[in-house]
Amino acid sequence: MNEQTLYARLGGYDGIVGFVGNLMPRLQGDELLGRFWQNRGSDGIAREKQLLIDYLCTNAGGPMVYTGRDMKLSHVGMGISESDWNAFIGHAVATMEALQVPKQECDDIAGFVLSLKDDIVEA
Ligand code: HEM
Repeated sequence: MNEQTLYARLGGYDGIVGFVGNLMPRLQGDELLGRFWQNRGSDGIAREKQLLIDYLCTNAGGPMVYTGRDMKLSHVGMGISESDWNAFIGHAVATMEALQVPKQECDDIAGFVLSLKDDIVEA
């Protein structure tokens, strides 16, 4: 049994920054999902990226405090559908493959992300 936090097993802060840095361009470039980031300024996108990093670090057991909004509040009204959700998951899997995240950590990330679905999908 591995006693290290998921945060440590993913390579700490730099590991999670790498994960988000790989994932976000995939989401923004997706035919279906791209609409969520259209017409947003680069500073807004940079702030959202930082919040996603902080959120993942905190929830993986890292030593930082997430100061953003909860998942329900930050996504309510966007109309994120089941198809959007499936596209998001496909990109998260592609990122894990690209970064060669080991199986145990992939399972841990998937378990956490899937637990958020009911708060994020609304249409
Ligand atoms: C299809 C799935 C998703 C879409 C389309 C999506 C889209 C977005 C967009 C457009 C924003 C910016 C909101 C704003 O500026 O007001 C945002 C914020 C955020 N999202 Fe998502 N998201 C998705 C799934 C997720 C998941 C699975 C997570 C967590 C692992 C997540 C974590 C966050 C965080 C932490 C923020 C920032 C919250 C804040 O502004 O306080 N999102 N999302």
